[in-house]
This record gives sequence, structure tokens and C-alpha cells, in this order.
Amino acid sequence: MSNIEQTLSIIKPDAVERNLQEEIKKKFIENGFIIKKEKKIQISKAEAEEFYKVHETKPFYEELCNYLSSGPIVVMIIEKVNAVLENRKLMGATDPLKAEDGTIRKIYGISIDKNSVHGSDSVDNAKIEIEFFFKSWEQFFAKLLDKVYFLQSKFFSRGFWVCLFLKFEFFFVLLFYQSQINYF
Ligand code: CMP
Repeated sequence: MSNIEQTLSIIKPDAVERNLQEEIKKKFIENGFIIKKEKKIQISKAEAEEFYKVHETKPFYEELCNYLSSGPIVVMIIEKVNAVLENRKLMGATDPLKAEDGTIRKIYGISIDKNSVHGSDSVDNAKIEIEFFFKSWEQFFAKLLDKVYFLQSKFFSRGFWVCLFLKFEFFFVLLFYQSQINYF
């Protein structure tokens, strides 16, 4: 049975600053990932602290949060069979110096801090991290709005209202004549 998973990927400030997002996205696609959703955002330091809370006891925590909130990032939901593990393989080791040839961090990473990409480290964390950036209620309302726009464009176009008006006009004209006939 195929095990299609979704995971969260972040293209970090160092890569966005060097305008590498399209090149990195291409790597995901070439490696069989589907980019289901993406957005370019800049988060606050408080949001970065919340996101990296698991590292709050680590000596590099402060630096890490300053860095992630220092510039625009691209956050993506990517999908593939065994996406969590496959993404971690494609990213390579945390430290670009130790990453295998051909991995994203080896090719684009500058240092252990500026290692260009982040990926969820487990299926459970992937769910938490996806929810962090792509709230399910936001997705629900986005889908609802899409449906409303679709229905509006299909059924409530200008042509629809003109037809409705003409239909009613004919109906009222008919009623009017009917009433005149009865009157006289
Ligand atoms: P990331 O996969 O985003 O998860 C936590 C980040 O902390 C990691 O990538 C690194 O960029 C950063 N980091 C900084 N210093 C270290 C370190 N000594 N060990 C592990 N991660 C570090």
C-alpha cells in the first residue's frame, strides 16, 4: 500500500535572499514531490520562537529565531510517498559541510545556521508544522470562498441577471395585459 505523506518545507532567509526559491522548488519537483501549497511570508521573532520551541533549551535557540525572522521565507506543503523521510534525504545533513553531494544543503547551504531549508523530522511534527503555517480553518474558508466565487461566476453572472429580469419583465407585462382585459 502506498504511503503518501505531506510534510512541511521552509526555504530559509539565506536562500530567498539569494533568489534561489525557484531552483530549490525545481529540485523538489524533479525528485517527485508535489507542491500542494506555498506562500512567501516573513514571520516575527515571537512566531519563530513558537515554531522552534522544541529547541528552546539549545544554546543556538536565540540565534536561530533571530535568523528565521530576519527576512522572507517560502513555506510549502509538499507531498510524496514517505515524504518526511524522502525530504530529509533530499535536504541532506543539517550542517552543509557534512551533507552528501547532490543534497540541497550541500549545494546551497552556507553554514549550519544558514542551511537554506528546513523540513519536518517526523510525521507527527509534519502535521503540527503544517498547521502552524497553514491553519485548517484558513484552508476551510479559502475553499469555501473558492466555491462561492465559482458559483457566483457560473450562476450569477450579468447574463444571468439580465435573463432573470427579461423573464420577469415578460411575466409582469403579461400580468398587466391580463389585468387590463379583466378591467375593461
Ligand atoms: P533546521 O532543520 O531548521 O532545525 C533547527 C535548526 O537549528 C537547524 O536546521 C539549523 O539550521 C540550526 N542550528 C544551528 N546550530 C545548530 C547546531 N549546533 N545543531 C543543530 N542545528 C543547529
